[in-house]
Amino acid sequence: MLRVRDLVVGYGAIQAVRGIDLDIEQGEIVALIGSNGAGKTTVARAIAGLLSYSGEILFEDVRLKPNAAERNLRLGIALVPEGRGILGTMTVQENLLMGLYTRNDKAQAKLDLAVIHQRFPILAQRGHLLASLMSGGEQQLLAIGRALLSKPKLLLLDEPSLGLSPRMTDTVFAMIEDLRRDGLTVLLVEQKARQTLQIADRAYLLETGCVITTGPAKGLIDDPVVSETFLGSRTAAVHR
Ligand SMILES: Nc1ncnc2c1ncn2[C@@H]1O[C@H](COP(=O)(O)OP(=O)(O)OP(=O)(O)O)[C@@H](O)[C@H]1O
Ligand SMILES: [Mg+2]
Repeated sequence: MLRVRDLVVGYGAIQAVRGIDLDIEQGEIVALIGSNGAGKTTVARAIAGLLSYSGEILFEDVRLKPNAAERNLRLGIALVPEGRGILGTMTVQENLLMGLYTRNDKAQAKLDLAVIHQRFPILAQRGHLLASLMSGGEQQLLAIGRALLSKPKLLLLDEPSLGLSPRMTDTVFAMIEDLRRDGLTVLLVEQKARQTLQIADRAYLLETGCVITTGPAKGLIDDPVVSETFLGSRTAAVHR
């Protein structure tokens, strides 16, 4: 479904992503794990079309363009950004409705909104509340609900567990599995490696902008490279 080849992304003189290859097949949960500053968000934002980059990104055989987020959204790629991107001064319902912005099929969109309300009852119950008054976990559900309203084929989730309690993290991860069961394809960016590898099919471990390991997720759970990365015991020299 998605094919990334030799992706290079820089911020001025900083090269944040240094030539990575990544594939996502239809129906998969693919994990992109790595510690702070590894380049995970940069990869997700490049795929969403929010950045300039070089290299090639193909989505269902269509070549994506840099800085073309709206086109990518219409093609079926939705990003739930790191930090959720909720507008706190707007209501829950207003935030949710922003997800319908690319939709032309208004009647169907209304039905989809009802489905989201059913899936996330809290968003229906708190529709008139200012989004900033929702808990972190509730805001994450809102961000996911909003992304789903664009009817994505590929959902990019950037650290959905950030700042959530273990219990809320479990809820969000269970929901990601539900969404996949319903046919969605997911790129899951996370630092919670173990939990992420338990629900993912395949994973890429990113470090300083490079993929240093990839493979079936379950096989990476006890991989020393993965555990050392997250325990912080690897020295940078090892990779040079
Ligand atoms: N807007 C920016 N301007 C300059 N440098 C940036 C910018 N955004 C990210 N970087 C740098 O690019 C590198 C990769 O950052 P990125 O946010 O992609 O990492 P990450 O893996 O998502 O980290 P985290 O887990 O902390 O979210 C880091 O060195 C970071 O400092
Ligand atoms: Mg990040």
